[in-house]
Amino acid sequence: MAGSDRGPSVDQLAATDGSNQRELRDVLGMFATGITVVTAGQDIPRGVTVNSFTSVSLNPPLVLVCLKQGSAMHQKILDCGVFAVSMLASDQESVARHFANQTRIRGEEEFRVIDWVRGERTGAPIISGTLAWLECSLATVYDGGDHSIFLGSVVHADRRDHHEALLFFGGNFHRLESSRTERPPPPINSPIPPPTARDSAGPCERNASTGNGDHS
Ligand SMILES: Cc1cc2nc3c(=O)[nH]c(=O)nc-3n(C[C@H](O)[C@H](O)[C@H](O)COP(=O)(O)O)c2cc1C
Repeated sequence: MAGSDRGPSVDQLAATDGSNQRELRDVLGMFATGITVVTAGQDIPRGVTVNSFTSVSLNPPLVLVCLKQGSAMHQKILDCGVFAVSMLASDQESVARHFANQTRIRGEEEFRVIDWVRGERTGAPIISGTLAWLECSLATVYDGGDHSIFLGSVVHADRRDHHEALLFFGGNFHRLESSRTERPPPPINSPIPPPTARDSAGPCERNASTGNGDHS
C-alpha cells in the first residue's frame, strides 16, 4: 500500500497545508534532472539556478522554466521579454551553487565571479563552459501556484561537444560521466527491433513497441 511504511501517502501529500512540504520535496527529488542557469537583462543582468527547465515543442521550438512568484528573476523576465538558459556541465557545481545562494551579491557584481558572454539575440548572459545554451523570447506566462510557468520561444541555440552533465537528484548534485561508446546507440526514430520473449508480456508493452513518439 502506498506510503504504508515509507512515509506519507499520496493523499496525505495532496492535502498538504505546508507541513508536509518536506516530504513532497523528497518525493519530487527522486526525479533526476539536469541543472540550468536562467539569465536575463543587459545593464544589470540576473541569473538563477533552475532545474524546472523542460523542452516542450520542436515545431514551433518552445521550452519552459518555472520561477518563484515574487522573485527578482520573475519580474526581470517580465520586464525584458527575453531570457537565456545555460545547461551546466559536470564541473560547474560551483556555478549552480552561486546562482542558488540567496545571500549572493546582486547587480553587476553577481556576474563578476563567473565567466560569461552576452547572448547574440537577447543580450542576456550566457554562462561560459556549459554543455549547451538557448536564447528565448517570452511567449506566454501561466500561473503555477507559488511559481509561474514561463513558456519561451527559442530564437537561438547552440551546444559544445562535451557530454558530462551536472545533475540534481535526491537533493544533491551529481556528475553524469560520459556515456559515449565506440558504437553509438541507434537514433531514437530508427526502426524498433522485434520484441524478445521478455518484451511480449501484455498489450501495453506490445503497443509501446510500435509507437514512434516525437518528443525530443
Ligand atoms: C538544483 C536547484 C534547482 C532549482 N530550481 C529552481 C527552479 O526551477 N525555479 C526556481 O524558482 N528556483 C529554483 N531554485 C532555487 C533558486 O535557485 C534560488 O532560490 C535562488 O536563490 C533564487 O534567486 P533569488 O534569490 O535571486 O530569488 C533551484 C535551486 C537549486 C539548488
